Amino acid sequence: MERPTWAPEDVNVERPSVARVYDYFLGGSHNFAVDREFADEVLRAMPDVPTVAQENRAFLRRAVRYLCGLGIRQFVDLGSGIPTVGNVHEVAQSLDPGAEVVYVDMDPVAYAHSRAILADNPHATVIRADLRQPAEVLADPQLRAHIDVDQPVGLLLVAVLHFVPDDERPADIVAAYGSAVAPGSHIVVSHMSAEGMDDAKDEALNLYQRSSTTVIPRTAQDVTRLLGDFSLVEPGVVRLPQWRPESPDEAGSTEIPGLAVVARRD
Ligand SMILES: C[S@@+](CC[C@H](N)C(=O)[O-])C[C@H]1O[C@@H](n2cnc3c(N)ncnc32)[C@H](O)[C@@H]1O
Repeated sequence: MERPTWAPEDVNVERPSVARVYDYFLGGSHNFAVDREFADEVLRAMPDVPTVAQENRAFLRRAVRYLCGLGIRQFVDLGSGIPTVGNVHEVAQSLDPGAEVVYVDMDPVAYAHSRAILADNPHATVIRADLRQPAEVLADPQLRAHIDVDQPVGLLLVAVLHFVPDDERPADIVAAYGSAVAPGSHIVVSHMSAEGMDDAKDEALNLYQRSSTTVIPRTAQDVTRLLGDFSLVEPGVVRLPQWRPESPDEAGSTEIPGLAVVARRD
């Protein structure tokens, strides 16, 4: 199996990784044959996945701009993925060059590539950690060097909570992050939608299950429940393109199987 020079030593090139499969859906080049074969199978069942991935990134960019507009200047992107166009630090630092960004991902390729592109950026860094361990993530000295939890923080859990099953208590994980940051902090969440699932989409999810990654689509009500004491910002939990579109072109299809929400810690 090929191992390109950019691939870290400890990367498993025999098993698809959700980070690299998602990179492939976004048109990136940090993926292996095993990821592309897996992704092509998913695409046969659910051909609109690349559109959903693009809509997801567009939502992330709008949400970061919205938070910058509120005066938030520090961000923790949990499950940040392999860097792609319009990363959080690019969006935030274009509006405020001193904005601080910490990326968190447990995937070795996402970590290595993020490290490489951030090497010369004094206001952004990446840590390799499991977001399901909030205490460890928040105690990380590198994170602490960039983030002052006594000031409002923008927390991002974008296209990642659907990998955390109910028995791993995703609501408690969200609550742990929320209670560790100052009032006025916000959380940005996007999530695979359970509404409008059909047999083809079930087939796509079964593929993930077989690759030993569980994907749990949730309803808007489930996602609201995950947010616990956070207060939903208007328009609440909506389909990705419906979250504060910045132009009529952006307010695309309501059929997109992805939910988006921004919520505030009071
Ligand atoms: C579908 S990608 C989303 C990337 C990015 N947030 C976005 O929306 O464009 C999911 C990412 O979450 C990461 N991930 C999944 N579970 C994680 C966990 N428990 N801790 C840290 N990262 C995780 C994967 O490695 C992958 O890079």
